[in-house]
Parts: sequence; C-alpha cells; structure tokens
Amino acid sequence: MTPLTIRGVQVFKGFLDTEAQSDMVDALRGVIRAAPFYQPVTPGGRKMSVQMSAAGQYGWVTDRRGYRYEPRHPDGMKWPPIPETVMEVWHTVAPKARDPECCLINYYDENARMGLHQDRDEADFSQPVVSISLGDSARFRIGNVEKGGSSESVWLESGDVLVMGGEARLIHHGVDRIRFGSSSLLKDGGRINLTLRVVT
Ligand code: SIN
Ligand code: MN
Repeated sequence: MTPLTIRGVQVFKGFLDTEAQSDMVDALRGVIRAAPFYQPVTPGGRKMSVQMSAAGQYGWVTDRRGYRYEPRHPDGMKWPPIPETVMEVWHTVAPKARDPECCLINYYDENARMGLHQDRDEADFSQPVVSISLGDSARFRIGNVEKGGSSESVWLESGDVLVMGGEARLIHHGVDRIRFGSSSLLKDGGRINLTLRVVT
C-alpha cells in the first residue's frame, strides 16, 4: 500500500478493514479493563481533554511532576502487554524498527482535542512513531519540526495508520477536532488513538 505523504508524515488510508478494527477494539477492551482510562493533568495543572491509558513496558504519563514514561499505571498496576494485532501493524509499516515499548491509548470524546506538540520524551529519535485511528474521524494538524510557521491538516478516519519517522519524526502535530458520530465502531462514539513508540 502506498501512503499519502504530507510533510514527510506517511498516512496509510484505510489500512485496517472493518473486521480488523473490531478485533483491535475487542483486544483493547481487555487492556482497558486491566488499566482503566484516567484523566491526565499537565505539569502546569490543566486537565487534558483526552482520557489516557497505555500498554507495553512503559506508558507515557503526565501529572504535576512532568511528562515521562512510567512502567506502571498511576493506580499502581503494570501496563498490560501490547495486543498482537497492534504489533502486526507496527511490523508492517515499520519493518526495520525496533519493537515498540509503549502503546499510548488516547480516548477523544466529542470535545476533546490535542494542541500542537512534538513527541520527544523518547531516547532514540531514529525510531518512528506509529499512530492508529479507531472510531470517529479527527482533523489531524501537521506543522513543522521547528516551532511555528504554516501547517496543514488531514482527516484521519477509522482504520487509518500514520507514521512519523525520519525527517518527520519530530514534526509538530495535534488534533483540532473530532467529527462526533462519524463512525459506528465504538458503541458510545468518540475516537481511540493508539501511538506506538520505542522509548529507550
Ligand atoms: C498524539 O499525538 O499523541 C495523538 C495523535 C492523534 O490523536 O492522532
Ligand atoms: Mn503526539
């Protein structure tokens, strides 16, 4: 499958078919049972609008003490393993990369969004970040590696997979808004985004 490339970011539209998406959601239900969504707070004390959880050796967390990776959920349990169906996506789109050590799970309700930022809490920027979109569509914004300047956007739909690697590994990105109710994959609506990262 040839990806669409926007500013070096690869977008594989329709990477997962409906059945693969539901299988992945089933697997994620098990993850969330073991490591429930929680409300992250920024180091500045603001509640983020997404709900978060994770799978893998490390989860990315944020609270008053800062942004970092932790081997345990804020409630104390270890993060569950990354589901096999999720690992398969990584191996297909990033065959030369090391295995991911974190699968961050973000849930967006109708009003959630994510401001422009870089993913830079990982030790090795030669390794890509892979993102999987499930459920409602999101307008994903892509800026530049440097702060500021122009940006462009692409709608990410359920089943789309995106890769930020190479020159685009440190590109600024964010989510402007969710088109609530655009997908019937999640029974209560909303969007799940998985981001897979090599942490160490
Ligand atoms: C993120 O940058 O952590 C999330 C991106 C997305 O939700 O598509
Ligand atoms: Mn990010």
